[in-house]
Amino acid sequence: MTTSRFYFRQLLSGRDFAKDDPMAAQMANFVYLIGDRETRDAVIVDPAYGVRDILDILDQDGMQLSGVLASHYHPDHVGGSMMGHTIEGVRELLEIKGTKIHVQAEEADLVKKVTEVSDGDLEIHQPGDHILVGDVRVDLLHTPGHTPGSQCFLVEGTLVAGDTLFLEGCGRTDLPGSDATAMYHSLHNTLAKVPDDTVLFPGHRYSFHSSATMGMTREMNYVFKPESEEQWLMMFGGQ
Ligand SMILES: [Fe+2]
Repeated sequence: MTTSRFYFRQLLSGRDFAKDDPMAAQMANFVYLIGDRETRDAVIVDPAYGVRDILDILDQDGMQLSGVLASHYHPDHVGGSMMGHTIEGVRELLEIKGTKIHVQAEEADLVKKVTEVSDGDLEIHQPGDHILVGDVRVDLLHTPGHTPGSQCFLVEGTLVAGDTLFLEGCGRTDLPGSDATAMYHSLHNTLAKVPDDTVLFPGHRYSFHSSATMGMTREMNYVFKPESEEQWLMMFGGQ
């Protein structure tokens, strides 16, 4: 399924970039690079903490930035203020290298608010849209629940899931803008269609392993245990 022109890297904050930033190490965010090795186009998923480091890695790989994908608006994914810290993100990246940030329509205002980017910086998408990075197709799956416009990226047998789904557990649904019922449908309907051999790459390293197949994840992750929305809300409604 994966073609040789598919460029993909998983970078851990505080280890692979932003190495001197204790917050980056503590939060254990994953940033992803997705591209086409033939055309050299690449996008960054959720640039935060050390945008120059991330751009340097792209540069060392001989890839050229052609866009940013934002899984959701939280500052540990796109930059902004969080827990008394200011995290670098898309705004600082755009100052270095102008490009577009791909967001779901329902997340656009939230991304603008926390990062202070403008309308012109955003490429606003509807559920089911896809983008081409060179000739590599990335499908944008709208997966509300953690936030209204959370999205996952399906590309070449790979699911980059932001904070929608981790190897163990899923994103919190008790935050402002969260919706436990929407999360149930995102996990049990939208992500249920993703094939077993697709590899899940989450937005944080909350487990020893950094990726796992969707088949394994659906078998092992407790968020797939409830068999109805009612059961789900009993388990996770007050999360
Ligand atoms: Fe989040």
